[in-house]
Amino acid sequence: MRALVFKRYGKPDQVGLTETPRPTPKPNEILVEVHAAGLNPVDTMIPKGAFKPILRFQLPATLGSDLAGIVVEVGSRVTRFKPGDAVFASIFDLGTGALAEFAVVPEDAAALKPPNLDFVQAASVPMVALTSWQALKERARLQPGQKVFIPAGSGGIGTFAIQLAKYLGAKVGTTTSTANVELVRSLGADEVIDYKKQQFEEVLRDYDAVLGTVRGDAIERSLRILKPGSTIVSLVGPPDAAFARTRGMNVLMVFLFGLLSRKIIRGAARRRASYSFLFVHPDGRRLAEIGELLNAGRIRPVIDKVFPFGQAKEALAYLEQGRAKGKVVVQMR
Ligand SMILES: NC(=O)c1ccc[n+]([C@@H]2O[C@H](COP(=O)([O-])OP(=O)(O)OC[C@H]3O[C@@H](n4cnc5c(N)ncnc54)[C@H](OP(=O)(O)O)[C@@H]3O)[C@@H](O)[C@H]2O)c1
Repeated sequence: MRALVFKRYGKPDQVGLTETPRPTPKPNEILVEVHAAGLNPVDTMIPKGAFKPILRFQLPATLGSDLAGIVVEVGSRVTRFKPGDAVFASIFDLGTGALAEFAVVPEDAAALKPPNLDFVQAASVPMVALTSWQALKERARLQPGQKVFIPAGSGGIGTFAIQLAKYLGAKVGTTTSTANVELVRSLGADEVIDYKKQQFEEVLRDYDAVLGTVRGDAIERSLRILKPGSTIVSLVGPPDAAFARTRGMNVLMVFLFGLLSRKIIRGAARRRASYSFLFVHPDGRRLAEIGELLNAGRIRPVIDKVFPFGQAKEALAYLEQGRAKGKVVVQMR
C-alpha cells in the first residue's frame, strides 16, 4: 500500500509517498481502508523531531493523526465494530499513521462516522474535536454564561472550539485577521478582535477561561483579561510538570517542564487563575458523543482545502504556512 512516510528526523527530503506493507490488526485493533486523512500542525512538526523527547516512532514511520474510512478487518477481541462500518478516529500518539491507504486503529480510539458527514468532513474533526472537548469541557469545566477566550478563531482548533463553547452555553471572544472576521462571527463568536488592528488585552475583560492556541506572548498577555478564579488551558506550551508526570517522564524532565512553566504559573497565581498544559489523547467514546453533536448539526466541520493523496506532502506544506481557515484534508478515495 502507499503511505506518506518519514525515514529520518529533521530532513524534509526524507518525507515521501512510499510503498509499505499493509498493517495487520492486533486483537484489539481494526484495519481501516482510509478514505480521507485530516491534517494537524503536529503532523508537520513530528518529522522535524520537535516531539522526539515526547513521542516515540519506529522509523520509517507513517505520518498523519486523523482519519475516516471503512473497516475491512477486525481483531479477535473487537466487539464494537465489524467489516463494512464507516468510522472516524484520531490515532495521534498511538505509534501508527493515518496518511496511508490502510491504517490500524485501536478499537477504543474509533467511533462510527456521523452519517450526515462525508469522509472528508469526518476526517477533518477528530483531533480538534477531542482537544476542544478535553480542554473546554473536561479541564476548564466551562459553564453556561461563562466567558472563554479562544484566540486564532479561524484555525482548525478555533473553528471547532468556538462552536463547542457556544454549544456549552458560553460567550466566546476570539482573535483573527481582517479577512476571517465574518467566518468566526458565523461560527458564533461574540467578541471578535482583528489582531491586525487591535491588541485583544486592551478590549476584552472579565474572562473565565483562556484556550492557549497561539505561540509567543499571547498567553501571558491573556492574564490581563482574566477574572479571579479563572482557568488557562494551553495547547501550545509551555508544558508543565504535571504533563511530564502523566507521560511517565524521568525526574529531570519533570523538573525541566516545571521550570519552563514556572513563570506563567506564578503569573496566573497572582491573578488567582490556574494554568495547565493539555496534550490531547485519543478517545473513541468521547468522539462518538461529539459525533452526535455533528450529526445533529450543532457543530459543523469547516474545511479550507482538500488535496489528493498524491499531493499529501504539498498539503502538509500548505498547512505549515499557518493561514488555514479551518481544516486541511487529504483524500485517498
Ligand atoms: N496540545 C495539544 O494537544 C494540541 C492539539 C491540537 C493542536 N495543538 C496546537 O494548537 C495550535 C493551533 O492549532 P490549529 O490546528 O488551530 O492550527 P492552524 O489551523 O494551522 O491555525 C491556523 C490559523 O491560525 C490563525 N493565526 C495565526 N497566527 C495568529 C495570531 N497571531 N492571532 C490570531 N490568529 C492567528 C490563522 O488565521 P489568520 O490567517 O487570520 O492569521 C489561521 O486561520 C497549534 O500550535 C497546534 O500544534 C495542540
